[in-house]
Amino acid sequence: MLSNRVQSLTPSLTLGISSKAKQMKKDGIAVINLSIGEPDFFTPEAVKTAGIDAINNNYTKYDAAVGIIDLRQAICDKLNGENQLSYSPDQIVVSSGAKYSLTNTLLTITNPGDEVIIPAPYWLSYPEMVKLTGGVARFVNTDFANNFKMTAEQLKAAINDKTKAVIINNPSNPTGAVYTKDELLALANICLENDIYIIADEIYERICYLDSFTSIASLSEAIKEKTILVNGMSKSLSMTGWRLGYTATTKEIAKAMGAIQGHLVSHPCTISQHAAIEGLKSCTDDIANMKRIYQTRRDEAAKIICAIDGLSVVQPDGAFYIFINVGAYRDKVTAESLSLKICDDMLEKQHVALVPGIAFGNDNFIRLSYAAKLEDIKEGLARLKQYLAEL
Ligand SMILES: Cc1ncc(COP(=O)(O)O)c(C=O)c1O
Repeated sequence: MLSNRVQSLTPSLTLGISSKAKQMKKDGIAVINLSIGEPDFFTPEAVKTAGIDAINNNYTKYDAAVGIIDLRQAICDKLNGENQLSYSPDQIVVSSGAKYSLTNTLLTITNPGDEVIIPAPYWLSYPEMVKLTGGVARFVNTDFANNFKMTAEQLKAAINDKTKAVIINNPSNPTGAVYTKDELLALANICLENDIYIIADEIYERICYLDSFTSIASLSEAIKEKTILVNGMSKSLSMTGWRLGYTATTKEIAKAMGAIQGHLVSHPCTISQHAAIEGLKSCTDDIANMKRIYQTRRDEAAKIICAIDGLSVVQPDGAFYIFINVGAYRDKVTAESLSLKICDDMLEKQHVALVPGIAFGNDNFIRLSYAAKLEDIKEGLARLKQYLAEL
C-alpha cells in the first residue's frame, strides 16, 4: 500500500539508538547517552524571553512564505558581519529547520535522475533526502589519512553528465573535520568548471575551534552564485526544538524555494522566527560560552580516546562529535558489522549509547557526541576501554 518512495527509505539508525537508550532510561537503567546530535544546553534566556514576548504580542498568525522580513534582515547582517557575505533579504529563505532547507534546495534544483555527490562518511539524512526528492546519490569515498575530507581530484572523478550538485558539510557531522580555505577553493573551482551547484551545509559553523572559519560562498562572487548556503539556529543557539534553518542563494533560487515552501508548509513557526532575531542579535556571548565548554570536552575526550589501545580519531576541529577509528578490533569481532556490534554491546552491556559508523557510510568507526556532561563522557570512555580490552 505504501509508495515506492517510502519503501526505499532507510530508517534512521541514530533515532533508533536514542529511542532505545530513552526506553532503557525509562526502565530505570542509568544509560550514558553519547549518541545525541543536540546541544545539552538550554536555549539562551534572551531567545526564550523574545519567544514569550512574540506570543504576548500576538505574532501568532500566518506570515511571509520565505520568513519574516526582520529575521531575513538579521540573517543578512549575521552573514555580512561574520562571514563577509553580502546578501539581501530576498536571497534568504527561512525554513522549519536546516533539514527542510536542504530538502527544499534539492526539490528546487534537481530533476528526477540527477546525481548529487555526497562525500562519505556523510550525515545520514543526505542520501535519504536525495532519494526522496527523486535524485540519485553518488558517494565519494574519502580517506582517513586526509581526515575524510574530499579532495578536488576525488570530486572531479565523480562528476558526469548527470551531476547536478555536491553537498559539502563543513564542519562535518560525523567527523568534526573542517576544510581549509585552500581545500574549499580547490573544490569550488571544480564545481565552477563543471557548472554544478554547491550545497554548503554550514550548520556547525559557529562551533569551530580553529582561529577562523571560511564559508565556501565567501571565496568569490562566481562561487557564491553557484552556492546554496544552508545554516540554522538549532546547533549554535541550542534551538533544536524551535525548528529554524535558512538558505542564502540567488534571488531566482530563493524565489523558487519560497514558492515550494508556500505550498508545502506555508512558512516556519512565526513565534520561533521572532525569537531567533534576538538570538542572532544578542547571543554572541552565549554562543562563545557553549563553544568554550565543548572545546574543553573535546580536548579531554580526544586525549582519553587516543590513549586507548588501537584507537585513533579524525582531527575534530568543529561540531561536537568525535569519529573514532575502531578498525584495529575488526579481527576480534565475528559479526558482519563491526561498528554495529560494538555499539549494540556498548548499549546492552555497558549502558553507553554511541552511533555505529555504518550509519554514516564507514563501518570501521563509531561516533561519540560530546554534547554531554564531561563526567559522563569520561565514564562512557572508561566503559568503552574496558569493553574493548575484554574483546
Ligand atoms: C550536518 C547537519 N545538517 C543539518 C542538520 C539539521 O538541523 P536542523 O535541526 O536545523 O534541521 C543536522 C542535524 O543533526 C546536521 O547534523
